[in-house]
Amino acid sequence: MKSIIKNYKDSKKSIGFVPTMGYLHEGHISLIRCAKKENDIVIVSVFVNPIQFGKNEDLDRYPRNIKKDIQLCEKEKVDILFNPLYKEMYPKGFKTYIVVEDLTSTLCGRYRPNHFKGVTTVVAKLFNIVKPDRAYFGKKDYQQLVVIKQMVQDLNMDTQVIGCPIIREKDGVAMSSRNKYLSKEERTSASALNKALLLAKNLFIKGQTDPQVLKKEIQSLIMRYPKIKEIQYIEIVNPKTLKPVKTVKKGDIIALAVFVGETRLIDNIEL
Ligand code: PAJ
Repeated sequence: MKSIIKNYKDSKKSIGFVPTMGYLHEGHISLIRCAKKENDIVIVSVFVNPIQFGKNEDLDRYPRNIKKDIQLCEKEKVDILFNPLYKEMYPKGFKTYIVVEDLTSTLCGRYRPNHFKGVTTVVAKLFNIVKPDRAYFGKKDYQQLVVIKQMVQDLNMDTQVIGCPIIREKDGVAMSSRNKYLSKEERTSASALNKALLLAKNLFIKGQTDPQVLKKEIQSLIMRYPKIKEIQYIEIVNPKTLKPVKTVKKGDIIALAVFVGETRLIDNIEL
């Protein structure tokens, strides 16, 4: 992979990179299309990164379908699909990790303690292999995008990190590989997340700037759906610091994590 990249670099081709864990859907495809527009070469990685999963999380049952991923990448005219093995990424004796402080202790980081350490470590490794000029991440994982931007800035990496819009199903559910886990009834309940975010956004537009009021409205709409097991968090945060705000302003992010049955879904909206 590194020698292929060296050839591209020697011939001055710009490289766009879309890191994924596979089971590609329209959300991933939108990132690929963005990368195609802005670069000579597009590289997609498919690697289910074990070190970003917690002990009781879904690593073993995370959906995989590399054949379909290959087909989709061919259809989108991706130049290279990089699909390394675990033992290639983490050979025996692996000891180095990257931690972005502070930004990783809020929101999802509170409930998934080593998750972002796993994400930043694998993304840094992938960046060192692929040496992308531009890398594309979805705003669906808003905290991940902010954390990676911080890592790139702090470690003087030569990659521009680009955030792309959330792609949704017709009923507003944010596309996610994990939606595959949902039963039909759970799928209906999952649509509550986006509905609640839109409700809050409308209340904000009409003048409501108290985060507690907006959070209560979101909570009560979501809890009306039968398959909601638990709301892990609803937070209204500053888009850069990810700290909860006292008064809601334009540009703030409402982020939430909810268990629909056993499946943990996240979503967010920019005000
Ligand atoms: P994965 O969940 O496969 O997502 C890969 C990329 O697709 C991420 O940047 C994610 O934000 C984006 N994405 C997922 N669903 C989207 C949607 N509905 N709309 C727009 N973008 C969407 O995120 C990861 O993998 C991993 O943590 C990774 C960065 C690859 C590191 O292992």
